[in-house]
Amino acid sequence: MKIYIEENYEKVSKRAALIMASQVVLKPDSVLGLATGSTPIGMYEELIAMYKRGEIDFSNVTTFNLDEYYKLPIENENSYYSFMMNTLFNHINVKKENIHLPNGMTESVEEECKNYEEKIKKAGGIDMQLLGIGGNAHIGFNEPADKLSVDTNIVDLTQKTIKDNSRFFDNEEDVPKKAISMGIGSIMKAKKIILLASGEGKAEAIRDMTNGYINTQVPASILQAHPDFTLIIDKDAAKLIK
Ligand code: F6R
Repeated sequence: MKIYIEENYEKVSKRAALIMASQVVLKPDSVLGLATGSTPIGMYEELIAMYKRGEIDFSNVTTFNLDEYYKLPIENENSYYSFMMNTLFNHINVKKENIHLPNGMTESVEEECKNYEEKIKKAGGIDMQLLGIGGNAHIGFNEPADKLSVDTNIVDLTQKTIKDNSRFFDNEEDVPKKAISMGIGSIMKAKKIILLASGEGKAEAIRDMTNGYINTQVPASILQAHPDFTLIIDKDAAKLIK
């Protein structure tokens, strides 16, 4: 595990964008695993700026997002599809056919999960996976539990996650209660993984995921066992690391 502790959120975003951009420059047909949430927004803005300056080309890149809400139409502004289009994809030259998110509106969840795994495999696997981390140390929507799913699956969101995510919705009741998420195995199969975290609200999760133990109640702790894992956090998120 490699750890960068940066001064603030802006520096975290810049460092992460440089690492992601290097991946695309070195391998223009990279398969990128992407995340939604507040944390990567700064990094996406940096990548858009680099693209506009002609420094990176996304025309051969393929993307797979970690997750999507279950039964929230993609036209809904809170769907992860809308988030990704508005925050990144509409501003760069990635091809629409190369963009993948789980289909939360599927009639057959089982089939959709299986297909998603197949599509990742067919694309050659994920070269670089970007992650955020929940206050409870979830990654993707793999919530603390006695057992964690290996493959893409449908998950019940915890009350904490529903509450955390309600900031994007009008009411807490509007937050979907389920999501389709890549599993821990899908994430761990990525060749490289970067995880970004900023702010005191993530400090406990960062402490618990870097303490040398793997614990299913701290889903991100498994990343310590990945051969090419980089943590990019600011001072506030790092403050409880021993
Ligand atoms: C998003 C995702 C989640 C978020 C996590 C942190 O696709 O899979 O695991 O990365 O909930 O969210 P923020 O960045 O909003 O604190």
